[in-house]
Amino acid sequence: MIQIAIMGLGTVGTGVARVVEENAQQIQRKLGEPLQVKTVLVRHFHDGPYRHLMTDDFRKIEEEPDIRVVVETIGGVDAAYTYTRRALEAGKHVVTANKQLVAEKGCELLALAREHHVRYLFEASVGGGIPILHPLTECMAANRIDEVYGILNGTTNYILTRMVRSGASFEDALREAQKKGYAEADPTADVEGIDAGRKICILADLAFGRQVDPERVPMEGITRLSLQDVEIARQAGYRIKLLGRAVRLQDGACSAYVAPHLIPAEWPLASVEDVFNAVVVKGNATGEVMFYGKGAGEMPTASACVADVMEALQTGCGSDIGWEKDGAFKDPLELTSRYYFRIEGSLERAASFGTVKCLWEDMGQTALLTDPISGRKAQELAHAVQALMCLRVLE
Ligand code: HSE
Repeated sequence: MIQIAIMGLGTVGTGVARVVEENAQQIQRKLGEPLQVKTVLVRHFHDGPYRHLMTDDFRKIEEEPDIRVVVETIGGVDAAYTYTRRALEAGKHVVTANKQLVAEKGCELLALAREHHVRYLFEASVGGGIPILHPLTECMAANRIDEVYGILNGTTNYILTRMVRSGASFEDALREAQKKGYAEADPTADVEGIDAGRKICILADLAFGRQVDPERVPMEGITRLSLQDVEIARQAGYRIKLLGRAVRLQDGACSAYVAPHLIPAEWPLASVEDVFNAVVVKGNATGEVMFYGKGAGEMPTASACVADVMEALQTGCGSDIGWEKDGAFKDPLELTSRYYFRIEGSLERAASFGTVKCLWEDMGQTALLTDPISGRKAQELAHAVQALMCLRVLE
Protein backbone atom coordinates (compact mmCIF):
# COMPACT_ATOMS: atom_id res chain seq x y z
CA MET A 1 0.00 0.00 0.00
CA ILE A 2 1.38 3.43 -1.00
CA GLN A 3 0.25 6.31 1.20
CA ILE A 4 -0.15 9.94 0.19
CA ALA A 5 -1.43 13.11 1.84
CA ILE A 6 -3.51 15.98 0.48
CA MET A 7 -3.07 19.50 1.83
CA GLY A 8 -6.24 21.58 1.30
CA LEU A 9 -9.64 20.06 0.56
CA GLY A 10 -11.15 22.57 -1.90
CA THR A 11 -12.27 21.74 -5.44
CA VAL A 12 -8.99 20.20 -6.60
CA GLY A 13 -8.07 18.51 -3.29
CA THR A 14 -11.47 16.82 -3.18
CA GLY A 15 -11.04 15.80 -6.81
CA VAL A 16 -7.69 14.17 -6.02
CA ALA A 17 -9.28 12.08 -3.23
CA ARG A 18 -12.10 11.09 -5.61
CA VAL A 19 -9.80 10.12 -8.48
CA VAL A 20 -7.66 7.99 -6.13
CA GLU A 21 -10.85 6.24 -4.93
CA GLU A 22 -12.79 5.96 -8.20
CA ASN A 23 -9.85 4.93 -10.39
CA ALA A 24 -8.21 2.71 -7.76
CA GLN A 25 -7.99 -0.37 -9.99
CA GLN A 26 -6.46 1.48 -12.92
CA ILE A 27 -3.93 3.19 -10.64
CA GLN A 28 -3.00 -0.05 -8.88
CA ARG A 29 -2.46 -1.78 -12.21
CA LYS A 30 0.08 0.89 -13.18
CA LEU A 31 1.81 1.18 -9.78
CA GLY A 32 1.72 -2.49 -8.87
CA GLU A 33 0.33 -1.57 -5.43
CA PRO A 34 -2.80 0.17 -4.16
CA LEU A 35 -2.64 3.95 -3.63
CA GLN A 36 -4.35 5.39 -0.58
CA VAL A 37 -4.94 8.85 0.87
CA LYS A 38 -3.78 8.57 4.48
CA THR A 39 -4.16 12.15 5.70
CA VAL A 40 -5.89 15.35 4.59
CA LEU A 41 -4.64 18.64 6.02
CA VAL A 42 -7.44 21.17 6.60
CA ARG A 43 -7.69 24.46 8.42
CA HIS A 44 -11.16 23.68 9.80
CA PHE A 45 -12.66 20.22 10.32
CA HIS A 46 -15.90 19.64 8.44
CA ASP A 47 -18.26 16.77 7.68
CA GLY A 48 -18.02 14.75 4.49
CA PRO A 49 -16.57 11.52 3.15
CA TYR A 50 -12.98 12.41 4.16
CA ARG A 51 -13.75 13.52 7.74
CA HIS A 52 -11.88 10.50 9.21
CA LEU A 53 -8.66 11.47 7.34
CA MET A 54 -8.56 15.10 8.46
CA THR A 55 -5.93 16.76 10.59
CA ASP A 56 -5.04 20.39 11.19
CA ASP A 57 -1.50 19.51 12.25
CA PHE A 58 1.06 19.49 9.39
CA ARG A 59 3.51 17.47 11.52
CA LYS A 60 1.21 14.43 11.12
CA ILE A 61 2.24 14.52 7.46
CA GLU A 62 5.81 15.71 7.85
CA GLU A 63 6.72 13.10 10.48
CA GLU A 64 4.83 10.17 8.96
CA PRO A 65 7.39 8.03 7.13
CA ASP A 66 4.71 6.06 5.26
CA ILE A 67 3.53 9.19 3.39
CA ARG A 68 5.65 9.32 0.25
CA VAL A 69 3.86 12.00 -1.77
CA VAL A 70 2.13 15.18 -0.64
CA VAL A 71 -0.42 16.86 -2.93
CA GLU A 72 -0.54 20.59 -2.23
CA THR A 73 -3.88 22.14 -3.19
CA ILE A 74 -3.96 24.89 -0.57
CA GLY A 75 -3.35 27.63 -3.14
CA GLY A 76 -1.60 30.98 -2.66
CA VAL A 77 1.93 31.32 -1.38
CA ASP A 78 2.08 31.63 2.42
CA ALA A 79 1.16 28.29 4.04
CA ALA A 80 1.52 26.44 0.73
CA TYR A 81 5.14 27.61 0.40
CA THR A 82 6.10 26.79 3.99
CA TYR A 83 4.55 23.32 3.92
CA THR A 84 5.93 22.53 0.47
CA ARG A 85 9.45 23.38 1.63
CA ARG A 86 9.05 21.29 4.78
CA ALA A 87 7.59 18.33 2.88
CA LEU A 88 10.46 18.37 0.37
CA GLU A 89 13.01 18.70 3.20
CA ALA A 90 11.34 15.69 4.87
CA GLY A 91 12.10 13.68 1.71
CA LYS A 92 8.56 13.59 0.30
CA HIS A 93 7.65 14.22 -3.32
CA VAL A 94 5.32 17.20 -3.73
CA VAL A 95 2.70 17.55 -6.46
CA THR A 96 0.69 20.72 -6.95
CA ALA A 97 -1.91 22.59 -8.99
CA ASN A 98 -0.82 25.88 -7.39
CA LYS A 99 0.23 28.13 -10.29
CA GLN A 100 0.92 31.14 -8.08
CA LEU A 101 3.45 29.21 -6.01
CA VAL A 102 5.09 27.63 -9.06
CA ALA A 103 5.26 30.95 -10.96
CA GLU A 104 6.77 32.81 -7.98
CA LYS A 105 8.88 30.14 -6.25
CA GLY A 106 9.15 27.27 -8.74
CA CYS A 107 12.86 27.77 -9.43
CA GLU A 108 13.73 27.61 -5.72
CA LEU A 109 11.40 24.68 -4.96
CA LEU A 110 12.75 22.63 -7.87
CA ALA A 111 16.29 23.20 -6.58
CA LEU A 112 15.20 22.16 -3.08
CA ALA A 113 13.54 19.02 -4.47
CA ARG A 114 16.75 18.13 -6.31
CA GLU A 115 18.80 18.66 -3.16
CA HIS A 116 16.57 16.20 -1.28
CA HIS A 117 16.35 13.68 -4.14
CA VAL A 118 12.59 14.02 -4.57
CA ARG A 119 10.32 15.44 -7.26
CA TYR A 120 8.33 18.67 -7.39
CA LEU A 121 5.71 18.25 -10.13
CA PHE A 122 3.03 20.70 -11.28
CA GLU A 123 1.39 19.51 -14.51
CA ALA A 124 -2.02 20.57 -13.12
CA SER A 125 -0.88 24.18 -12.65
CA VAL A 126 -1.34 25.01 -16.36
CA GLY A 127 -4.30 23.96 -18.48
CA GLY A 128 -6.08 21.87 -15.80
CA GLY A 129 -6.51 18.41 -17.31
CA ILE A 130 -4.56 19.14 -20.51
CA PRO A 131 -1.16 17.47 -20.66
CA ILE A 132 1.03 20.43 -21.65
CA LEU A 133 4.07 20.74 -19.36
CA HIS A 134 5.27 17.17 -19.87
CA PRO A 135 4.86 17.32 -23.68
CA LEU A 136 6.59 20.71 -23.72
CA THR A 137 9.60 19.56 -21.73
CA GLU A 138 9.81 15.94 -22.88
CA CYS A 139 8.13 15.27 -26.24
CA MET A 140 9.32 18.61 -27.65
CA ALA A 141 12.70 18.53 -25.89
CA ALA A 142 14.62 18.41 -29.19
CA ASN A 143 13.18 21.76 -30.32
CA ARG A 144 14.12 25.35 -29.75
CA ILE A 145 10.78 26.74 -28.57
CA ASP A 146 10.18 30.15 -30.16
CA GLU A 147 6.70 30.99 -28.91
CA VAL A 148 3.93 29.72 -26.65
CA TYR A 149 0.48 31.25 -26.57
CA GLY A 150 -3.05 30.27 -25.79
CA ILE A 151 -6.29 30.47 -23.89
CA LEU A 152 -5.11 29.77 -20.37
CA ASN A 153 -8.07 30.67 -18.18
CA GLY A 154 -11.26 28.61 -18.21
CA THR A 155 -13.34 31.09 -16.21
CA THR A 156 -12.82 34.02 -18.58
CA ASN A 157 -13.27 31.84 -21.67
CA TYR A 158 -16.50 30.53 -20.14
CA ILE A 159 -17.68 34.09 -19.39
CA LEU A 160 -16.86 35.33 -22.91
CA THR A 161 -18.61 32.34 -24.49
CA ARG A 162 -21.77 32.77 -22.39
CA MET A 163 -21.87 36.53 -23.06
CA VAL A 164 -21.45 36.11 -26.82
CA ARG A 165 -23.62 33.01 -27.32
CA SER A 166 -26.54 33.69 -25.03
CA GLY A 167 -26.20 37.35 -24.12
CA ALA A 168 -25.60 36.52 -20.43
CA SER A 169 -24.40 39.43 -18.33
CA PHE A 170 -20.79 39.41 -17.11
CA GLU A 171 -21.96 38.98 -13.49
CA ASP A 172 -24.31 36.06 -14.26
CA ALA A 173 -21.69 34.26 -16.35
CA LEU A 174 -19.09 34.71 -13.59
CA ARG A 175 -21.52 33.32 -10.98
CA GLU A 176 -22.08 30.25 -13.19
CA ALA A 177 -18.32 29.71 -13.54
CA GLN A 178 -17.95 29.96 -9.77
CA LYS A 179 -20.77 27.43 -9.22
CA LYS A 180 -19.09 24.99 -11.59
CA GLY A 181 -15.84 25.21 -9.59
CA TYR A 182 -13.82 26.90 -12.37
CA ALA A 183 -13.07 30.25 -10.73
CA GLU A 184 -10.35 31.03 -8.20
CA ALA A 185 -11.35 31.66 -4.56
CA ASP A 186 -11.00 35.34 -5.45
CA PRO A 187 -12.18 35.55 -9.09
CA THR A 188 -10.36 38.87 -9.55
CA ALA A 189 -7.32 36.74 -10.44
CA ASP A 190 -9.34 35.20 -13.30
CA VAL A 191 -11.05 38.26 -14.76
CA GLU A 192 -8.03 40.57 -14.43
CA GLY A 193 -5.72 38.16 -16.29
CA ILE A 194 -3.54 37.34 -13.27
CA ASP A 195 -4.28 33.61 -13.31
CA ALA A 196 -3.45 33.39 -17.02
CA GLY A 197 -0.37 35.53 -16.27
CA ARG A 198 0.98 33.02 -13.74
CA LYS A 199 0.40 30.21 -16.25
CA ILE A 200 2.20 31.97 -19.11
CA CYS A 201 5.14 32.56 -16.73
CA ILE A 202 5.35 28.82 -16.00
CA LEU A 203 5.11 27.99 -19.71
CA ALA A 204 7.83 30.54 -20.49
CA ASP A 205 10.07 29.26 -17.67
CA LEU A 206 9.90 25.76 -19.12
CA ALA A 207 9.96 26.74 -22.79
CA PHE A 208 12.92 29.12 -22.54
CA GLY A 209 14.72 27.62 -19.53
CA ARG A 210 14.84 30.85 -17.52
CA GLN A 211 12.76 32.44 -14.82
CA VAL A 212 10.13 34.88 -16.03
CA ASP A 213 9.19 36.96 -13.02
CA PRO A 214 5.37 37.46 -12.84
CA GLU A 215 5.98 40.99 -11.51
CA ARG A 216 7.42 42.02 -14.88
CA VAL A 217 4.65 40.51 -17.00
CA PRO A 218 1.82 42.91 -17.95
CA MET A 219 -1.52 41.21 -17.27
CA GLU A 220 -4.80 42.50 -18.59
CA GLY A 221 -8.12 40.68 -18.27
CA ILE A 222 -11.57 40.92 -19.85
CA THR A 223 -13.22 43.58 -17.71
CA ARG A 224 -12.54 46.34 -20.28
CA LEU A 225 -14.09 44.40 -23.20
CA SER A 226 -17.43 45.40 -24.63
CA LEU A 227 -19.89 43.27 -26.60
CA GLN A 228 -19.77 45.97 -29.27
CA ASP A 229 -16.10 45.23 -30.01
CA VAL A 230 -16.80 41.50 -29.95
CA GLU A 231 -19.51 42.03 -32.59
CA ILE A 232 -17.42 44.37 -34.80
CA ALA A 233 -14.55 41.86 -34.68
CA ARG A 234 -16.92 38.99 -35.55
CA GLN A 235 -18.27 40.81 -38.61
CA ALA A 236 -14.70 41.48 -39.75
CA GLY A 237 -13.81 37.78 -39.52
CA TYR A 238 -12.10 37.80 -36.10
CA ARG A 239 -12.84 36.50 -32.60
CA ILE A 240 -11.76 38.18 -29.38
CA LYS A 241 -9.96 35.84 -26.96
CA LEU A 242 -7.96 36.42 -23.79
CA LEU A 243 -4.49 35.09 -24.59
CA GLY A 244 -1.31 34.57 -22.63
CA ARG A 245 1.71 34.82 -24.92
CA ALA A 246 5.46 34.28 -24.46
CA VAL A 247 7.95 34.95 -27.24
CA ARG A 248 11.67 34.23 -27.65
CA LEU A 249 13.29 37.27 -29.26
CA GLN A 250 16.19 37.24 -31.70
CA ASP A 251 18.69 38.57 -29.15
CA GLY A 252 17.86 35.63 -26.85
CA ALA A 253 15.72 37.64 -24.42
CA CYS A 254 12.06 36.77 -24.00
CA SER A 255 8.85 38.64 -23.50
CA ALA A 256 5.48 37.65 -22.05
CA TYR A 257 2.10 39.20 -21.34
CA VAL A 258 -1.64 38.55 -21.07
CA ALA A 259 -4.23 40.58 -22.98
CA PRO A 260 -7.40 40.20 -25.03
CA HIS A 261 -6.56 39.77 -28.74
CA LEU A 262 -8.35 39.67 -32.06
CA ILE A 263 -7.56 36.37 -33.79
CA PRO A 264 -8.78 35.16 -37.22
CA ALA A 265 -12.09 33.26 -36.97
CA GLU A 266 -10.63 30.35 -38.96
CA TRP A 267 -7.86 29.66 -36.41
CA PRO A 268 -8.55 26.52 -34.32
CA LEU A 269 -8.02 28.69 -31.22
CA ALA A 270 -11.00 30.85 -32.23
CA SER A 271 -13.43 27.98 -31.73
CA VAL A 272 -12.16 27.09 -28.26
CA GLU A 273 -15.16 27.83 -26.07
CA ASP A 274 -16.61 27.40 -22.56
CA VAL A 275 -14.14 26.18 -19.96
CA PHE A 276 -11.82 24.73 -22.60
CA ASN A 277 -8.23 25.94 -22.85
CA ALA A 278 -5.83 25.55 -25.75
CA VAL A 279 -2.08 26.11 -25.86
CA VAL A 280 -0.10 26.52 -29.07
CA VAL A 281 3.65 25.77 -28.93
CA LYS A 282 5.93 26.77 -31.82
CA GLY A 283 8.99 24.53 -32.02
CA ASN A 284 11.68 25.14 -34.65
CA ALA A 285 11.49 21.49 -35.71
CA THR A 286 7.81 20.65 -35.10
CA GLY A 287 6.24 23.92 -36.23
CA GLU A 288 2.97 24.70 -34.41
CA VAL A 289 1.55 22.09 -32.04
CA MET A 290 -1.76 22.67 -30.23
CA PHE A 291 -2.96 21.17 -26.94
CA TYR A 292 -6.67 21.34 -26.14
CA GLY A 293 -8.91 20.26 -23.27
CA LYS A 294 -10.69 21.26 -20.08
CA GLY A 295 -8.63 23.95 -18.37
CA ALA A 296 -10.38 23.96 -15.01
CA GLY A 297 -12.73 21.95 -12.83
CA GLU A 298 -12.46 19.30 -10.14
CA MET A 299 -11.86 16.06 -12.02
CA PRO A 300 -9.75 17.27 -15.00
CA THR A 301 -7.33 19.10 -12.70
CA ALA A 302 -7.27 16.23 -10.21
CA SER A 303 -6.45 13.82 -13.03
CA ALA A 304 -3.25 15.77 -13.77
CA CYS A 305 -2.33 15.82 -10.05
CA VAL A 306 -2.79 12.07 -9.60
CA ALA A 307 -0.80 11.36 -12.78
CA ASP A 308 2.04 13.42 -11.26
CA VAL A 309 1.75 11.42 -8.01
CA MET A 310 2.13 8.24 -10.05
CA GLU A 311 5.06 9.66 -11.99
CA ALA A 312 6.87 10.70 -8.80
CA LEU A 313 6.42 7.19 -7.38
CA GLN A 314 7.56 5.50 -10.57
CA THR A 315 10.56 7.67 -11.44
CA GLY A 316 11.70 8.90 -8.01
CA CYS A 317 14.44 11.48 -8.55
CA GLY A 318 15.21 9.93 -11.94
CA SER A 319 14.18 12.72 -14.30
CA ASP A 320 13.85 16.39 -13.57
CA ILE A 321 13.20 19.81 -14.96
CA GLY A 322 14.33 23.26 -13.96
CA TRP A 323 15.20 26.73 -15.17
CA GLU A 324 17.80 29.40 -14.52
CA LYS A 325 17.00 32.08 -12.01
CA ASP A 326 17.50 35.24 -14.04
CA GLY A 327 16.66 35.70 -17.68
CA ALA A 328 16.72 38.79 -19.91
CA PHE A 329 13.16 40.08 -20.26
CA LYS A 330 11.91 42.68 -22.77
CA ASP A 331 8.82 44.80 -22.37
CA PRO A 332 6.07 43.36 -24.64
CA LEU A 333 5.44 46.92 -25.83
CA GLU A 334 8.46 46.25 -28.09
CA LEU A 335 6.53 43.49 -29.91
CA THR A 336 5.03 44.46 -33.26
CA SER A 337 1.60 43.49 -34.60
CA ARG A 338 -1.51 45.00 -36.17
CA TYR A 339 -3.86 46.75 -33.77
CA TYR A 340 -7.63 47.17 -33.56
CA PHE A 341 -8.88 50.60 -32.49
CA ARG A 342 -12.35 51.95 -31.83
CA ILE A 343 -12.36 55.74 -31.66
CA GLU A 344 -14.80 58.61 -31.41
CA GLY A 345 -15.36 60.41 -34.73
CA SER A 346 -14.57 59.58 -38.34
CA LEU A 347 -11.55 57.93 -39.96
CA GLU A 348 -9.96 61.36 -40.39
CA ARG A 349 -9.17 61.40 -36.65
CA ALA A 350 -6.84 58.47 -37.34
CA ALA A 351 -4.74 60.43 -39.86
CA SER A 352 -1.60 59.90 -37.73
CA PHE A 353 -2.12 56.09 -37.60
CA GLY A 354 -0.42 55.35 -40.95
CA THR A 355 -2.17 52.92 -43.30
CA VAL A 356 -5.39 51.63 -41.77
CA LYS A 357 -8.34 49.47 -42.79
CA CYS A 358 -11.75 50.76 -41.76
CA LEU A 359 -13.91 47.97 -40.24
CA TRP A 360 -17.00 49.84 -39.10
CA GLU A 361 -18.48 53.31 -38.83
CA ASP A 362 -21.63 54.06 -36.90
CA MET A 363 -23.07 56.40 -34.28
CA GLY A 364 -20.16 58.82 -34.68
CA GLN A 365 -17.57 56.13 -33.98
CA THR A 366 -15.04 54.29 -36.16
CA ALA A 367 -13.35 50.91 -35.77
CA LEU A 368 -10.15 50.21 -37.72
CA LEU A 369 -7.14 47.96 -38.09
CA THR A 370 -3.63 49.40 -38.37
CA ASP A 371 -0.65 48.01 -40.24
CA PRO A 372 1.93 46.35 -37.95
CA ILE A 373 3.15 48.76 -35.26
CA SER A 374 4.89 48.30 -31.91
CA GLY A 375 2.83 48.07 -28.74
CA ARG A 376 4.48 51.31 -27.60
CA LYS A 377 3.34 53.12 -30.75
CA ALA A 378 -0.18 51.70 -30.31
CA GLN A 379 -0.21 52.97 -26.72
CA GLU A 380 0.86 56.46 -27.86
CA LEU A 381 -1.81 56.56 -30.58
CA ALA A 382 -4.49 55.33 -28.18
CA HIS A 383 -3.51 58.05 -25.75
CA ALA A 384 -3.42 60.78 -28.42
CA VAL A 385 -6.97 60.11 -29.68
CA GLN A 386 -8.32 58.84 -26.35
CA ALA A 387 -9.28 55.58 -28.04
CA LEU A 388 -12.37 53.78 -26.73
CA MET A 389 -10.66 50.44 -27.34
CA CYS A 390 -7.21 49.28 -28.43
CA LEU A 391 -6.48 45.56 -28.87
CA ARG A 392 -3.58 43.61 -30.33
CA VAL A 393 -4.29 41.47 -33.41
CA LEU A 394 -2.55 38.10 -33.81
CA GLU A 395 -2.59 36.60 -37.31
N1 HSE B 1 -9.49 29.60 -12.21
C1 HSE B 1 -8.74 28.83 -13.13
C2 HSE B 1 -9.40 28.92 -14.50
C3 HSE B 1 -8.66 27.41 -12.64
O1 HSE B 1 -10.54 29.37 -14.58
O2 HSE B 1 -8.78 28.57 -15.49
C4 HSE B 1 -7.67 26.57 -13.33
O3 HSE B 1 -6.37 27.02 -13.18
